[in-house]
Amino acid sequence: MNILLLGSGGREHALAWKINQSPQCSQLFVTPGNAGTAEFNTSENLVQNGYDQADFQRIAEFIVQQQVKLVVVGPEAPLVAGVTDFLKKYPSTSEVLVVGPTQAGAELEGSKDFAKQFMQKYGIPTAASQTFTTDKLDAGINYLKKQSLPIVLKADGLAAGKGVIICPTYEEAEQTFTDMLQNEKFGAASQKVVIEEFLEGIELSVFVLTDGKSYQLLPEAKDYKRIGEQDTGPNTGGMGAISPVPFADKPFMEKVKTQIVEPTIHGLAEENIDYRGFVFIGLMNVDGSPYVIEYNARMGDPETQAVIPRLQSDLVELLVATAQQQLSDVSVQITPQTAATVVMVSGGYPGSYQKGKPISGLSEASESLIFHAGTKAEGNQVLTNGGRVLAITSLHDQLEDALALTYQQVNRLCWEEIYYRKDIGQDILQYESAGK
Ligand code: AMP
Ligand code: GLY
Repeated sequence: MNILLLGSGGREHALAWKINQSPQCSQLFVTPGNAGTAEFNTSENLVQNGYDQADFQRIAEFIVQQQVKLVVVGPEAPLVAGVTDFLKKYPSTSEVLVVGPTQAGAELEGSKDFAKQFMQKYGIPTAASQTFTTDKLDAGINYLKKQSLPIVLKADGLAAGKGVIICPTYEEAEQTFTDMLQNEKFGAASQKVVIEEFLEGIELSVFVLTDGKSYQLLPEAKDYKRIGEQDTGPNTGGMGAISPVPFADKPFMEKVKTQIVEPTIHGLAEENIDYRGFVFIGLMNVDGSPYVIEYNARMGDPETQAVIPRLQSDLVELLVATAQQQLSDVSVQITPQTAATVVMVSGGYPGSYQKGKPISGLSEASESLIFHAGTKAEGNQVLTNGGRVLAITSLHDQLEDALALTYQQVNRLCWEEIYYRKDIGQDILQYESAGK
């Protein structure tokens, strides 16, 4: 079958790499794509306005022209904007299989307030919180002052991963809260603000594929969000990932399944939400108990670049089963090997950075997987074209060896003002050697 994948990041390159291996995949198209997915990119970029109705129209027409039978939505923006609903309603694409929830389902990611209410309603463990709007500024400040420190402030809407601020003092919390609500610090996204209790623990990314009735767990991963080594400096989209994660052992994952995943799927069904796609659950392990920090309606980036290489099953078979609500009939095979992913970025990221730097070392043979994110082909050269540029993944029986392979490959790649973290996975190696 012909397959269309939406997106242009490292996550999409990893998905494209795996989809293309399936005997069920005749032709794969990726839009907007990047230099890594170039062989699959559509001749016209179908996403010209950041996923608005005109883009959806172009996508629908392309699906008809190219006889696409399966659409896989990578990022959150098209989901929150309703691409799945659009394709279901558009007469000539209504039968096309779509992996990615409807707009109502994507609210789990698109509105933190919706997600909190959903978790409260279905008894899913999460931090205590309250939501405030501009007209409740004073009530919000009063509430803030009664909470213990640090305190977490979250813009309700999508804010490109920047909408969460952890405030160590009441002064900072009050100032930030006022900036978010009154001065729209994150634009429309912070017209509502969730004030949330701070959870102390270790984070884990859990990935679920659901057809709305049943589900399959994909490998879990650990993300490295901060730009600096030892988890310092500002948050980024993610600087590396490791899968599996040693503390996510059987007893812990059993709690995740019964206390979080199953009530989530049940809640979506109760709310009559048609959810066929990925649920990415960001959770905190607080003394052995899982708490949800956030839901995402998509896979993680760069976690996908670590998770997907561990998947031995045919991804297209899983995606089709998801869209056809037959996930209970399939099984997911995972290699026990460890995947170590390091993200290489443009100097300056997550602040301002330059684009258009030629990348060297890409054409040499490698034992590792090289997934492109912000890259662009120009003539015979590949140029940097974003903050996160490449993600390098290696698989090995031991994390230490997987990391060594990845860093060997990282050292072969170069561009002006390159940056990457050298400590990805070190915390897990220490955890393992402490024998916990
Ligand atoms: P998010 O944008 O929701 O992924 O949040 C960004 C980061 O903020 C998370 O990865 C956590 O590290 C942190 N965070 C969010 N909520 C909490 C919380 N309630 N307690 C502690 N840390 C949090
Ligand atoms: N790596 C975190 C995310 O994809 O949101």
